[in-house]
Amino acid sequence: MTTFILNARTVHTDAHGGTTLLDVIRYHEHLPGTKIGCREGDCGACTVLVGEVKDGRVEYRSMTSCLLALANVHGKHIVSVEGLNMDMLSPVQAAMVDESGTQCGFCTPGFVVSLSGCCLTHDKVTYGDAIRAIDGNICRCTGYKSIERAAGIIAEKLSDKDGMNPLAWSVEKGFLPSYFNGIKERLHGIQAKRTSNERPSNGSIIVSGGTDLYVQKHDTMHHSEVSTVFNDETLKGIRIEGDQCLIGGGSVVSDMLASKDLLDHFPNLEKHLLLVSSTPIRNMGTLAGNFVNASPIGDLTVFFLALDSTISLKGKSERDLKLRDLYKGYKQLDKTPDEIVTSVRFKLPGKNTRFNFEKVSKRTHLDIASVNSAARFEMDGDMIREAHVSAGGVAPVPTYLANTCAFLAGKSLDHETVRQAIEVLNAEIAPISDARGTAEYKRLLLRQLFFAHFLELFPERFTLKELVA
Ligand SMILES: Cc1cc2nc3c(=O)[nH]c(=O)nc-3n(C[C@H](O)[C@H](O)[C@H](O)COP(=O)(O)OP(=O)(O)OC[C@H]3O[C@@H](n4cnc5c(N)ncnc54)[C@H](O)[C@@H]3O)c2cc1C
Ligand code: FES
Ligand code: FES
Repeated sequence: MTTFILNARTVHTDAHGGTTLLDVIRYHEHLPGTKIGCREGDCGACTVLVGEVKDGRVEYRSMTSCLLALANVHGKHIVSVEGLNMDMLSPVQAAMVDESGTQCGFCTPGFVVSLSGCCLTHDKVTYGDAIRAIDGNICRCTGYKSIERAAGIIAEKLSDKDGMNPLAWSVEKGFLPSYFNGIKERLHGIQAKRTSNERPSNGSIIVSGGTDLYVQKHDTMHHSEVSTVFNDETLKGIRIEGDQCLIGGGSVVSDMLASKDLLDHFPNLEKHLLLVSSTPIRNMGTLAGNFVNASPIGDLTVFFLALDSTISLKGKSERDLKLRDLYKGYKQLDKTPDEIVTSVRFKLPGKNTRFNFEKVSKRTHLDIASVNSAARFEMDGDMIREAHVSAGGVAPVPTYLANTCAFLAGKSLDHETVRQAIEVLNAEIAPISDARGTAEYKRLLLRQLFFAHFLELFPERFTLKELVA
């Protein structure tokens, strides 16, 4: 039995836990405002807000209901577009109407839900924040300018939002219906969390955010036996322990973006992670899901490979494994089906550390990489003391470039070293031609990304002209 609050109403359902929330909303609960576009997380027509109690308050994040397992919403507040309606148009709805932000209207519920999410954040909302909130929503009619104008108006109206209590403020100012005020107490009444002792039953599919599984196994997930780990609090959290950082395997990309500790240690984290998917997918997609999905171009995997990370696995017993040793061949892992990735840990960057992530895709945002790469260098004056370089899209698995790293260690930081390293790198990759480009093109891309690491991290030392000379 799954229990959650859908808009103002508590829903108890014995529908299969693997059913998508989208289908439950539309076909069981008969709320057709949430639209079906792609069913792959790409268009945002099915966006809902998902609220859960954290640190004594209800935190809301946008998610694509087409990829959200019903089991994942137990104990949560789901807001569909119908749940935003009041007697009058809300300022969000009004801005979309006034600026002609809607034409055929198919995408509009998704935009309205995503933009309404801006009311519920604790930070001041800038125009940039409002635009970012809709980075997972696609419109085929308007050309976006009218929607951008609406986003601008909404950001302005939210400029004096009470960041301490955005929910009460939003209700008072007519952004949200009054039933939102009572949600926290109602959620407390619903048991939401799994305990860490509950582990997936034999043969069931481990589901976390579902953003890979529901795209790849769309037809089977809603009747497969699923074990969700998405609500397992023991798999979440970002902790600093001495010189190590430990991140729960169930943490989502947005958790990393919200972590002050990580932002302090990785000044370019936002730039790097905004290249990964879109806001609603970053709110759902977990680190463990990215590692175990084992896509040769997984961005997070490539990111953490270059941090020389170690993952912890829990099955019948517990063990640690270098992330780079997880991958044995295309989608083949050193992991039993019942083992859960509980966390990933790595040494925090020190003052002599340089870290960079690069990604090339057909479009900058909401696209998977053609080739990606990350690099971590530990410097000792002009010498590279230690190097960790990873790449995606150039082999059947996300790759830690062990030979290139070994070659770079102990070398002086100069153009000749980088040029020689390219030779080593080329010998240890095996790209194939596919929809994202030919093998030769991918080799060329990785060479450019490798150069980009040095240009980005040591701009005073390197020029592209000399690197390609
Ligand atoms: C529109 C869209 C855009 C995307 N863009 C990007 C992108 O730019 N870059 C990128 O790298 N990825 C992208 N992805 C892929 C996806 O979002 C990520 O790979 C995400 O991190 C997967 O995490 P998840 O929790 O959703 O995994 P799920 O789909 O829940 O699971 C994926 C796999 O991991 C297993 N699993 C999940 N959690 C655990 C655990 N704790 N222990 C053991 N096994 C586990 C599952 O059994 C399954 O085999 C995109 C996906 C979509 C739909
Ligand atoms: S239907 Fe397109 S993102 Fe869900
Ligand atoms: S108004 Fe038609 S898709 Fe956006």
